[in-house]
Amino acid sequence: MASYGFACAIIIASTLLLPSTRIEPAKARVLNPSLLSDVSDGPCTLMVKSRGYKCEEYEVRTQDGYILSMQRIPEGRNSDKNGGKKQPILLQHGILMDGITWLLNSPEESLAFILADNGFDVWIANTRGTRWSQRHVSLDSSTRDYWAWSWDELVMHDLPSNVDFVYSKTGLKLHYVGHSLGTLVALASLSEGKLVDKLKSAVLLSPVAYLTHMTTPLGILCARAFVGEVCFHYLINDIILILEIIANFLKALCTHLDCYDLMKTITGNNCCLNASTVELFLEYELQPTSTKTMVHLAQTFRGGILAKYNYQNKEQNMEHYGQSEPPVYNISNVPHNLPLFVGYGGQDSISDGRDVDHLLNDLKFHETDKLKSHFVKDYAHIDFVMGISAKTMLYNDVISFFNLV
Ligand SMILES: *[C@@H]1O[C@H](CO)[C@@H](O)[C@H](O)[C@H]1NC(C)=O
Ligand SMILES: *[C@@H]1O[C@H](CO)[C@@H](O)[C@H](O)[C@H]1NC(C)=O
Repeated sequence: MASYGFACAIIIASTLLLPSTRIEPAKARVLNPSLLSDVSDGPCTLMVKSRGYKCEEYEVRTQDGYILSMQRIPEGRNSDKNGGKKQPILLQHGILMDGITWLLNSPEESLAFILADNGFDVWIANTRGTRWSQRHVSLDSSTRDYWAWSWDELVMHDLPSNVDFVYSKTGLKLHYVGHSLGTLVALASLSEGKLVDKLKSAVLLSPVAYLTHMTTPLGILCARAFVGEVCFHYLINDIILILEIIANFLKALCTHLDCYDLMKTITGNNCCLNASTVELFLEYELQPTSTKTMVHLAQTFRGGILAKYNYQNKEQNMEHYGQSEPPVYNISNVPHNLPLFVGYGGQDSISDGRDVDHLLNDLKFHETDKLKSHFVKDYAHIDFVMGISAKTMLYNDVISFFNLV
């Protein structure tokens, strides 16, 4: 109980002490004020067109009414005019991040640009609740109802809607690249037989499925202390975006400490981050998510089982699921012939090697030539999306993988 109290104290203290703590996440976030006027144009204007790439903004509606933004980089800088139909790829960021994650380094170092320059048709997803995906057909994002979802809804709605959208626009099955939570939602969706007929392959970077061995202090705060559902549901309430508070807390710390060190503390000893990119990251990222998602991840951390959101009592579970325990996502049901690429790091304190082994064990029935695992000894969680060496350490292998399947 002491740790719950501690976390509550930190959260409440940071709420009270930091004047910048507020529910609106996006507004304080723009690094360069001259960009402010372009915010309505979204990531295309902010991060893509200025680098000499074409970029298209789209809106995707989920079945439960969320309006998600999506960006498309249809071709590389030196596109061949006669090139045939390009293979679409969907990039799905992780928790606390948004689509901009894939665009923060230089075009020579960032996966989205590298893929476009290699002839792929690149689509970038933005999860509900993040900066450009805060609209809904009827709910306002400042209401409790808007935030009443866990990662189950990402599995059930966001991801299938995004995949359907790209499929319907291009008429082609897509490759998928997920980072962090973006791996979990894909595995869970696939295990339920969703997406299966629309994906050509899936690349899972810093895979998050089991979290039992997560060692990050933030993780432990998130998981152990966050289980203080007491803390959330009673003291603070669902509507407050806990992560936003923590993000602001970290940013305040960041003005006193080295941000780079702070990132290391949270995500593991990233070997290869560019300090200016980290600053950009902290400016743009640390996007909000719902407390229910954090509680759900905390349940995964504690339980060591991949299951749907566990309501607080058997009656409520019964009401939602028709059974007293939440249904399990069985990763062994991911189609055994779907080409998978699992990239994981030796320094990752969120996606620990032992948890990756657990995941790979669940995939033991996978056809062996359809499962490629790629270990990068020096990489921690963020290196996979922002490492300056990621092209040589990882992305070139991802591209070869795509070209072979
Ligand atoms: C780090 O980022 C800055 C700013 O984008 C850039 O000028 C510099 O070349 C980068 N360094 C490396 C090693 O990529
Ligand atoms: C998952 O599915 C596999 C194969 O279908 C089965 O052997 C295993 O018992 C299942 N695991 C759980 C936790 O239900």
